[in-house]
Amino acid sequence: MAEQLLNTKPDLEKLTAIIADYAGQRWPLIPLVQKIQSEFGYIPQESVPLIAQYLKLFPSQVQGVISFYAQLYTKPRGKKVVRVCRGTACHVRGGKTILKLVKQNLGIEEGETTPDMEYTLETVACIGVCALAPNIVIGDRVFGHMNPKKVEYLLKRGGD
Ligand code: FES
Repeated sequence: MAEQLLNTKPDLEKLTAIIADYAGQRWPLIPLVQKIQSEFGYIPQESVPLIAQYLKLFPSQVQGVISFYAQLYTKPRGKKVVRVCRGTACHVRGGKTILKLVKQNLGIEEGETTPDMEYTLETVACIGVCALAPNIVIGDRVFGHMNPKKVEYLLKRGGD
């Protein structure tokens, strides 16, 4: 994950080299956009015309594929993604308040990334550990039985 500041422009030379590597391959679009995301942490908008040029596609075709897959990100993301569960079990146990507190603590809304690129905030339908509700995930770790103190504590410690 290289592009760490929100307004940083991607390294076009590196981007072009990656794209050029895939030109001429069979069915290269999906593996190519996955490669770009693994290198940059997201798919820079600058990729679209370059991919179209190298793979001989229309930019709208490239954009269509990128927009179709929820796992492909078009904006830089933070080092850690905070996911707050908005499923029913979490909701009835205060999930809404937890989300509000996470937003307040991070100073961002859902779908946004902190200016220092530390955190991206998302919500999810169900984390799958409803018995521990309300839950959040920070990076790869699930934190259950969340309450206001825990939210503050965890975000201060960076989810460790
Ligand atoms: S509803 Fe939140 S973990 Fe299932």
